[in-house]
Amino acid sequence: MIELKNISLKYGEREILNNVSLTINDNTIKAILGPSGVGKSTILKLMLGLIKPNKGRVIVDGTDITHMTETSLYEIRRKMGMVFQGNALFDSMTISQNLGFFLRENMKLPESEVSRRVTEQIQFAGLEGYEEQLPESLSGGMRRRVAIGRALIFKPHMILFDEPTAGLDPVSSKKILSLISSLRKNNNLGAVIVTHILDDVFNVADSVAVLYKGEIIFDDVTDKLHEAQHPFIRSILSDKILEL
Ligand SMILES: Nc1ncnc2c1ncn2[C@@H]1O[C@H](COP(=O)(O)OP(=O)(O)O)[C@@H](O)[C@H]1O
Ligand SMILES: [Mg+2]
Repeated sequence: MIELKNISLKYGEREILNNVSLTINDNTIKAILGPSGVGKSTILKLMLGLIKPNKGRVIVDGTDITHMTETSLYEIRRKMGMVFQGNALFDSMTISQNLGFFLRENMKLPESEVSRRVTEQIQFAGLEGYEEQLPESLSGGMRRRVAIGRALIFKPHMILFDEPTAGLDPVSSKKILSLISSLRKNNNLGAVIVTHILDDVFNVADSVAVLYKGEIIFDDVTDKLHEAQHPFIRSILSDKILEL
């Protein structure tokens, strides 16, 4: 479980988050919806301890990580898989090498276990036959699936997605969303999806928080979004996609 408690954050003089509180429960998929530049990626960075808030606390599985050092954060980060917006794959490594990299280099797992887990993720992500290809020879949707496989291969408790369908065509988006939905079947895995695309929310999220001008203006089960009265939410529901 991840909790943000009364978080305020500024970049220089500019206030990005103003007293934001959020809870991400285990075994659920939570979306954080908001327009571009509102602070969604910033929230994921706070959850990973990559940046520190000016006020408030970040709690992961009951541990206050707000002021933890990098060394202590290592164990916490292993509980969370992250899928970056640009995928962050290693260009010079094959798909198999990308998937296995952290298991070999950081976790020092034996080669037999690395290979077992790589095969498992290749199957899960539907990448059979592409094991020895370089990322550049894959489509955008496939590269995103490699990034998801690489985040899952640690067996994290929680997986964080930064704009999982941004820049993908409708068919690839659908594949990514169904892959994310299939994570629900894994009883021990929760997910956070930050997005500016309303379809992502309706397709996969159990609950959704809407971030607007530094504040959470809605936080409830996804079905209730239709009943929200806030003018910003009314406008995105009628336009279907947020203004960039
Ligand atoms: N390290 C930084 N220093 C200064 N400003 C930043 C930094 N990172 C992000 N910003 C700004 O803060 C705002 C929120 O950024 P971000 O969290 O990336 O938004 P989102 O992911 O919702 O598009 C944006 O206006 C962005 O330009
Ligand atoms: Mg972002």
